Amino acid sequence: MRIDILTLFPQFFLTPLQDAIFRRAKDKNLVSFNVYNIRDYTHDRHHVVDDYPFGGGAGMLLKPEPVFEALEDVLKDRFEDELPIPVILTTPQGQTFSQSLAYQLAQHKRIAILCGHYEGMDDRVREHLVTHEISIGDYVLSGGELPALVIADALVRLVPGVLGSEDSPVTDSHSDGLLEYPQFTRPADFRGWKVPEILLSGNHAKIAAWRREQSILKTASRRPDLLAKTSLTAEEKKLGSGLSLPQADADVNEQSK
Ligand code: 6GU
Repeated sequence: MRIDILTLFPQFFLTPLQDAIFRRAKDKNLVSFNVYNIRDYTHDRHHVVDDYPFGGGAGMLLKPEPVFEALEDVLKDRFEDELPIPVILTTPQGQTFSQSLAYQLAQHKRIAILCGHYEGMDDRVREHLVTHEISIGDYVLSGGELPALVIADALVRLVPGVLGSEDSPVTDSHSDGLLEYPQFTRPADFRGWKVPEILLSGNHAKIAAWRREQSILKTASRRPDLLAKTSLTAEEKKLGSGLSLPQADADVNEQSK
């Protein structure tokens, strides 16, 4: 997979892309990253990238010319027969990013991410260049760079071979619409806090059933919205609905302490 990132702050990506999941993916030649500075596509002496909004109002907008030129340059060597390359704009006005969207985008050999500008961008960019507008959640960030890294991380780890064990993305929280079950390692008794007995039993069927149950209970208490969208057996539904709402609130409150 090839990920092209277009930004006014290319330095922002230097360290993150050299580390952790991104480095692993690059070292295995499974993913390549290119970061382009939109400012390099200006032609005036002062490399101006923004201008005042028509009709007045606060702030400056990213001009269309450098963005179009940068993207046209980045996409110029695409093959004619390839799937259309997703051009993602990171913006708080976009659709909320999700694991299912990550799976969809990870099917592509190439994507481009255009980092939103804190004060906005000429709307012709969105209308004529961008294929996906994506937000990473209902809160305000100062720019689209962190969201671009969030999206890139979620995609890269879905590229086959990037993670150590091929099946680990499948057991991740959200992959089956449920939150992940609790996990433990040695020691079996740490400060008197014991690992659930069943995990030491060696009975794989019982362990799998326990994990599924734990996932359902955790999802029911923390994210009933997710549970409603998941397909469960009749018995599993009973398990999930056994939790009363006050309990759900208590669990969430505990998290935010
Ligand atoms: Cl993609 N951009 C900005 N600026 N803020 C955000 C966001 C994106 N997603 C959530 N908040």
